[in-house]
Amino acid sequence: MKIRDKLFGGEYDFLPKKKNHKIESLFPSRGSFTFNGRSAFYLIIKRIKEKKIRSIFVPYLICESLIEVLKKEKIKVKYYDIDTKFNEKLSKIDKNCALLKIHYFGLRKSKSFNKLFKNKKLVIIEDFSHYIPSKKILEGNRSFKFMSLRKLGLCPIGGWTNVNEKKKIRKFNKFKEFIDLKIKKKRYLDKELSNRNLKIEISYLRKFQQFEKLFSNNYKMGTISKEKMGQLITKNIYKIKNIRKKNWVAANKILKTFSLRIFEVKNFNTFFSYLVFTKKRNNIIKLLRRNDIYCPIFWKIKNKLPNNSFSKFCSEKMISLPIDQRYSIKKIRYISNILKNCLQY
Ligand SMILES: Cc1ncc(COP(=O)(O)O)c(C=O)c1O
Repeated sequence: MKIRDKLFGGEYDFLPKKKNHKIESLFPSRGSFTFNGRSAFYLIIKRIKEKKIRSIFVPYLICESLIEVLKKEKIKVKYYDIDTKFNEKLSKIDKNCALLKIHYFGLRKSKSFNKLFKNKKLVIIEDFSHYIPSKKILEGNRSFKFMSLRKLGLCPIGGWTNVNEKKKIRKFNKFKEFIDLKIKKKRYLDKELSNRNLKIEISYLRKFQQFEKLFSNNYKMGTISKEKMGQLITKNIYKIKNIRKKNWVAANKILKTFSLRIFEVKNFNTFFSYLVFTKKRNNIIKLLRRNDIYCPIFWKIKNKLPNNSFSKFCSEKMISLPIDQRYSIKKIRYISNILKNCLQY
């Protein structure tokens, strides 16, 4: 096994090879490409402010970067819980409010929620970062839509929203610098399979952390052209979805007893990661790291979560094992068995 293949999870490094995927086959002609998910979300917030909306319902289980945008934009945040199927658990909503719906882990949403609020003229914002919808769904204009393009490894950085924004990017040199560094790191990894140098790797990590900070602090950076983003999308998106599905099924054969009953193939549109639940979450994550398996935590929530809520359960007990397009079924079986051993220990 090559050394680089021993590391599982973490940020995506790969970049386009010879042929770029046709971006038009996934995204509608309307809409904008941005630096990341939060800057796409910002463009929506700007629009809803023009509609005089000043508060938004968001799920407790949410990435802090989106809350930061709301706070900086002086939007009042109200939280709601999700049910055990990851659907919105909400029966009442104030007037003149927006609502953020997250399509968690690629799971299909139940339709009853939409029916409940059908006549309320509720402004809905949908986060598709874990879900690759059809172009037809993205074309629909009954809700605001956005996604972070790096979460599923469609490209190393980027975002999309159905809001049309004319303003082009201000810090394009920084974006180019980031991409160049990704290319440099990929070349280094390709060349230095056996002589990897920890110092060099740490220096890359630090540089990427600096970019992360810069991008977070500058969520108003403007948009990137479709042509530029098209150059960054690596593989056929439908192929990516298929590999993820096969890998998820392989992991499910080994880990099913530690997962949830709703996690059946038919309930997913896109397979984001393989989720298991355990009281020993933090210890197991450490153990996995010792085996070079990196599982992110969804999410480290700053505010207090209601007792006995499903959001609290997920935030404390969920492990998200990578099953993405970088790995073969054989490798997925290998990491799933390591996780199974940890869970049984
Ligand atoms: C579900 C979800 N949507 C959006 C974002 C923000 O995306 P980005 O990191 O590209 O700004 C995150 C944060 O990581 C997220 O987890």
